[in-house]
Amino acid sequence: MGRVGLGVAVGCAVVTCAIAAALVGRRARSWWRWARVVGVVGQFEEDCATPVWKLRQVVDAMVVEMHAGLASDGGSKLKMLLTFVDTLPDGNEDGIYYALDLRGTSCRVLKVQLGGNGSKIINHKVEQQRIPEELVSSTSEELFDFIALTLKEFIEREENGQVPGSKKELGFTFSFPIRQLSVSSGVLIKWTKGFTIEDVVGKDVSQCLEEAMSKNGLHMQVAALVNDPVGTLAVGHYDDADTVAAVIIGYGTNACYVERSDAIIKYQGLLTDSGFMIVNMEWGNFWSSHLPRTCYDIALDDESPNRNDQGYEKMISGMYLGEIVRRVLHRIAEVSDIFGDSAHHLSVPFILRTPLMAAMHEDDSPDLREVGRILEESLQTSGLSLKAKMIVVRVCDMVTRRAARLAAAGIIGILKKIGRDGSGGVASGRTKGKPRRTVVAIERGLYTNYSMYRVYMNEAITDILGQEIAQNVVLRVSEDGAGIGAALLAAAYSSKR
Ligand code: BGC
Repeated sequence: MGRVGLGVAVGCAVVTCAIAAALVGRRARSWWRWARVVGVVGQFEEDCATPVWKLRQVVDAMVVEMHAGLASDGGSKLKMLLTFVDTLPDGNEDGIYYALDLRGTSCRVLKVQLGGNGSKIINHKVEQQRIPEELVSSTSEELFDFIALTLKEFIEREENGQVPGSKKELGFTFSFPIRQLSVSSGVLIKWTKGFTIEDVVGKDVSQCLEEAMSKNGLHMQVAALVNDPVGTLAVGHYDDADTVAAVIIGYGTNACYVERSDAIIKYQGLLTDSGFMIVNMEWGNFWSSHLPRTCYDIALDDESPNRNDQGYEKMISGMYLGEIVRRVLHRIAEVSDIFGDSAHHLSVPFILRTPLMAAMHEDDSPDLREVGRILEESLQTSGLSLKAKMIVVRVCDMVTRRAARLAAAGIIGILKKIGRDGSGGVASGRTKGKPRRTVVAIERGLYTNYSMYRVYMNEAITDILGQEIAQNVVLRVSEDGAGIGAALLAAAYSSKR
């Protein structure tokens, strides 16, 4: 080989080595980036794990907090509020009742026709109205005018242009924490679910509604003011007498149950003819060090308008699940390039809503087409790799599984408190050696529309209770129970009865 030949050969070797080194370098960098993704996901998985022993700790913590909340006001983060509902509708209610159901993102108006004489609900009609976003931080007057007008227009349509002349009675479902003064009145303790209308806090919300109705020419009075699970429990019990508790798993979350009056220590001397009262737990505010909290939950809480409040709700309800996923994906985008140019969209809070997250989680197409479409629409991603889409689904799964399992632990906590978890033999969930049938009414979209949530929740109930006891615990979906229940309770507590 001549000199020239040698020079060319050496040159080629150098170029080949350089290319190989560049390729190896790129490979190594991409391997490292991928390892970091795996690290973020793995750490998250570890931090939000819910093995059965941990769920049992949550069950016990719930029971302890329930006792503390029943012993004194302020004794626990669980408020355990009195509802003054000490009789449940029995089928003898009759007539037409209207109800207004103010939720987090929407408000529903209902007309319910009751047949009396032990008959069931003959008919009901529901209309839904979205709450305009600006109302969430408006004034008391604007909010109550809006809902009073929504109700008035509905009644006018139903009554062919007429509005009730004499004072007609109404059921009012108000899905925020209220300190009840009676079955028909109560003051707002604080807002949740993003509402910040300060001038309502401390006011009697029934009075606010009645004033707004009368200002708008609608002369009705609130006969029953109920928190949403209380309405759900009323209907649940009306349909199935084994119903002892009700749970809302939606944009927000809460539970209530039937408690013996003598167990409500903080209201010693509270006597009810029935010997019981429904207690509104406000369980969204439950807190325990046993809850598996991650750095994403902490950051979400820090940046929320109600920091240190609604800790359990922030882990299990629809307002927050999509946002937790968004935070984890944002971290992944920071350590890798798997989301390409769209990474900065992931820094926008609440850009990923829970219904979208559920749709991605339940995408069963082999190439995760739905995941790709949703991310393209909400985050402007394009050409995401299958690997990246799989990571998204994995994160959705972890967030939902934790949420559903924690919600299940909360339910078992209630059952344990009232002796229906089968742990104590005859007195608890068993009659003459046989487990007792126990029904828990459940309402709202996160549970009803998200099948994986339901699957994980049922699975956790069996994990905690064991097959034999779990098969006697029925989670019964109640549609529109919160509103229909308010109408039923308005009928049951009507002054005209
Ligand atoms: C409220 C509860 C309500 C629940 C479900 C929570 O944010 O504090 O009062 O029952 O949402 O709507």
